[in-house]
Amino acid sequence: TRPLRQALAKEPLVGRFIARALADLGRRWRAEAAKRMPEARGDIREIVGQPVFVPLYKLFLMYGKIFRLSFGPKSFVVISDPAFAKQILLTNAERYSKGLLSEILDFVMGTGLIPADGEIWKARRRAVVPALHRKVANEALGKPSPAIPSTVALYWLPYSDAPANLALTSQDLATVSRGRSVLKELHQGSGATEVAVSFADAANATLGASQSSAERLTGTFRPTTPLSVFGSLNLTSRARWVLRVADLGENWQDSRQITLESWTLVLCPPDNATLPAMLELNLAQQAALGSGPLKGAQRGLASAPRLQALSGGAMLPAVPTLVTVASTTTFRTQSELADQTVVEEEDEEFGEEFLSARDPSILHFLVASGDEISSKQLRDDLMTMLIAGHETTAAVLTWTLYTLAQHPEAAEAIRQEVDAVLGDRAPTVADFGSLRFTTRVINESMRLYPQPPVLIRRALQEDSFDGFVVPAGSDIFISVWNLHRNPASWDQPDAFKPERWGRARAFGPLDGPMPNEVTENFAYLPFGGGRRKCIGDQFALFESVVALSMLMRRYTFELDTTKPPVGMTTGATIHTTAGLHMLVKKRDLSGASPSAAYDAPQYAFAGSPGMPA
Ligand code: HEM
Repeated sequence: TRPLRQALAKEPLVGRFIARALADLGRRWRAEAAKRMPEARGDIREIVGQPVFVPLYKLFLMYGKIFRLSFGPKSFVVISDPAFAKQILLTNAERYSKGLLSEILDFVMGTGLIPADGEIWKARRRAVVPALHRKVANEALGKPSPAIPSTVALYWLPYSDAPANLALTSQDLATVSRGRSVLKELHQGSGATEVAVSFADAANATLGASQSSAERLTGTFRPTTPLSVFGSLNLTSRARWVLRVADLGENWQDSRQITLESWTLVLCPPDNATLPAMLELNLAQQAALGSGPLKGAQRGLASAPRLQALSGGAMLPAVPTLVTVASTTTFRTQSELADQTVVEEEDEEFGEEFLSARDPSILHFLVASGDEISSKQLRDDLMTMLIAGHETTAAVLTWTLYTLAQHPEAAEAIRQEVDAVLGDRAPTVADFGSLRFTTRVINESMRLYPQPPVLIRRALQEDSFDGFVVPAGSDIFISVWNLHRNPASWDQPDAFKPERWGRARAFGPLDGPMPNEVTENFAYLPFGGGRRKCIGDQFALFESVVALSMLMRRYTFELDTTKPPVGMTTGATIHTTAGLHMLVKKRDLSGASPSAAYDAPQYAFAGSPGMPA
């Protein structure tokens, strides 16, 4: 082409004309290609009443890996192909935003990490990821629960003027009216119980936001289950949150009320002690943390005269040391494997100095490291964490239990494994690698029931998929449900086969690496992929395996057939339509050896669970 270019350079007018003609041709070709994208036209009524990912699967089988779904003037591009998903999530990730999702979640998460885009997302991801670093999780999990003075209660009430929180409150109330904590119920003995809602409670408890239904009803919260890696609502960190908020001066309403954006926190120790006692406790803790440069809340505390005035008088003793952070080994998360660039930055950003031996909580980390953070951003981050962190895990556990109820042989294999690996003791992080079959059951449950089943994006720029052009502004659904059940990717895609994660591969049964979007080349996206990948993936896997192993060791679960069929409903995750009602029996542990030598459980696959009615 060089002679041609040289000739054209001599004739700039002709050159420009040809360039324009080529561009025009390109545009027309792209428009043609876009036209060729299969289009499913629908009547919205056809999909009302069923979970949206189910008709999307039928349409995928009819129209293929990319199609446009139009309802009147509104249309969505539906993606069901691993390579296309990889392009959106990884290779061309900068061309996409969260689009509709940000709009939908704005009321509750604001600019929290899930809905945020652009510079805010970048800054918050850098700030939040280190707080979930395995260094923190590793040490906090498996250690005894921190001692929390039982006399302190936090009342967490919605601020009545904020419509956002009214919505959240009605959701809370719906939860309250439907269930009670599964752990509580199970501790009381055997019987029929509804576990879907209870798992939400249990996952919440693990995050540190435990609310039993009775307490929810009365609008109170008691930190009775301080199991959290985040410790986010344990006394120390919560109180720091309060301090941080108090720093905002104008939000300080009276000695017992602090308004944090649209949330009202009312501190009220049940023994009628007053708020200053709480604050003194914190001053003592702050003092115990040592001198050194004041960060975030500490600085706020020093400059909050009203607070200091309130806190006058004798100091209370600090709570006992919570957790010691000993490990300093560098750990690479799955996200890191998925997106080296972002994660290398994230690694560099890890702020060792913000780790607190006393309080390795996400909240502590955010406050300590976030000098510039506004109270609204802090609220948004915390709400995001609470919602993202509990609903997903609860859904995973719910659908795992549902699936296991149809596969008693898999439930039995988990029991064999748990008996052998743990016996009567509680699991620690060190056991995670040995609870392999249990982990594979979780992996397979997340394949069959991905939480969320659909990822949402909006194209900021035009992009093209095998010649199909997706114009800027298009709303996109990446159907994880379709990817996970794509017959081109999976043998017997609808069947529950935990052994698929080992046997058919080069490595031995169950010995493969943890399956994720990297090992499966975007055919499997339990935690998303690329730079927006879940930051709680490791934590959630630990949590699910720990919860499942402990439940299976102690109880047997059967579907309660007297109750309506389970059914699936679309939510942010896959919800049960009528709850998951199960008959729970205490397991007879007399034959189960607490110390049997570990041998991989024998597991025979026994057919497909099918899809819930
Ligand atoms: C993002 C799933 C637990 C916090 C995501 C995404 C998925 C996911 C699929 C990607 C969303 C997208 O690309 O649009 C899950 C599942 C979990 C779980 C299945 C449990 C089994 C957690 C936990 C936390 C968490 C425990 C932390 C407290 C987040 C955050 C994001 C996210 C903050 C947004 C990250 C970003 O956009 O940069 N999660 N998640 N998740 N998850 Fe999780």
